[in-house]
Amino acid sequence: MRLLVIGGTSFVGRAIVTEALGRGHDVTTFNRGLTGKDVDGVEPLRGDRSTDEGLEALAGRSFDAVADPSGLVPAHVLRTARALADSAPFYAYVSTTAVYQKWDTAPVDESAATWPGVADEDGDAADYAKYPAHKRGSELAVEQVYGADAALIARAGSIVGPHDNLGQLPWWLTRIAAGGRVVAPGDPGRGLQLIDVRDVAAFVLDQAETRTGGTHNVVPDGTNTTMGELVDSCVGATGSGATPVWMDEGFLFSQGVQPWGELPLWIPNVPDTAGFWAVSGASAKAAGLRTRPVAESVRDTWEWLRSGGEVRTTPGAPPLGLATEKEQQVLAAWDTRPAG
Ligand SMILES: NC(=O)c1ccc[n+]([C@@H]2O[C@H](COP(=O)([O-])OP(=O)(O)OC[C@H]3O[C@@H](n4cnc5c(N)ncnc54)[C@H](OP(=O)(O)O)[C@@H]3O)[C@@H](O)[C@H]2O)c1
Repeated sequence: MRLLVIGGTSFVGRAIVTEALGRGHDVTTFNRGLTGKDVDGVEPLRGDRSTDEGLEALAGRSFDAVADPSGLVPAHVLRTARALADSAPFYAYVSTTAVYQKWDTAPVDESAATWPGVADEDGDAADYAKYPAHKRGSELAVEQVYGADAALIARAGSIVGPHDNLGQLPWWLTRIAAGGRVVAPGDPGRGLQLIDVRDVAAFVLDQAETRTGGTHNVVPDGTNTTMGELVDSCVGATGSGATPVWMDEGFLFSQGVQPWGELPLWIPNVPDTAGFWAVSGASAKAAGLRTRPVAESVRDTWEWLRSGGEVRTTPGAPPLGLATEKEQQVLAAWDTRPAG
């Protein structure tokens, strides 16, 4: 295939590029040249999809498929799809399960209600409050131009793996590598649904190669690991000998520890998070999604960090992880908590 990847230098896009090159495809990337470096072996094109003139480098080019993991603003995606409609017969868009109104509070499949999106809405890619509606609008933009049969909408869940640009698993690995007693949240048996970025990439390419349109939640079908396995895998991968100290959620709340932000990937087991790790992956599985063991993602993410990999979050992203001083306070409070 002659594949065009919009972006291709960061996390999901980089994984698609790497997998596509490994499969022998000719890969062209399109980006501004601001984020990361192009993967060796691609033909890099420079441009900015936020203006019509910015897409000039795509004029006169043709491709067998487009992979767009980076679109965050509907109008930018619409512009890109329109520019490519006559020169590339298939468009794969990486979206998110956050397009569902109830994705965190109730189990959802692809028929669940989504946030309203507007295909030509313009806006700021960094406006996180608009993220769900913008991703939905971007999906509509792709379908408006390509139709459902020539468009893949890949709604990814929580992604892990090398080149992570959110930093959740890297935070755990880095903290655990530092050793000592580590605050570990809630029930170690709590199930999680994590997808490796390379499995997302393989799925997108499988569908693009066969030009199979459709909308799928790209998540494991059911929980595929537990918080305990994740933490233990980090201990094993880093070889640090760190000791997880499992603390019940009520205690962590009493200490003001924030789920997700301070202890990444910790979602408290309370009724209004009942959907968080319960998104249906049945349709992607039926369409061929394969998922690797989470321990492999942990090991390879640690290898990436050890070889100099750095998490490059977007400017303005909130800080991640429990501060050392606060962790020490929480451990001390745990040790001296009243019996019973
Ligand atoms: N991480 C997760 O857990 C998760 C979960 C669900 C869904 N997702 C989805 O996965 C996607 C993330 O993919 P990703 O990490 O590969 O990409 P990304 O970090 O969102 O996008 C970055 C890529 O797009 C390029 N880019 C940004 N603005 C551009 C512009 N105006 N014109 C041209 N190129 C532009 C960047 O290069 P330049 O800056 O050099 O232009 C870079 O190559 C997100 O859209 C998100 O919705 C992620």
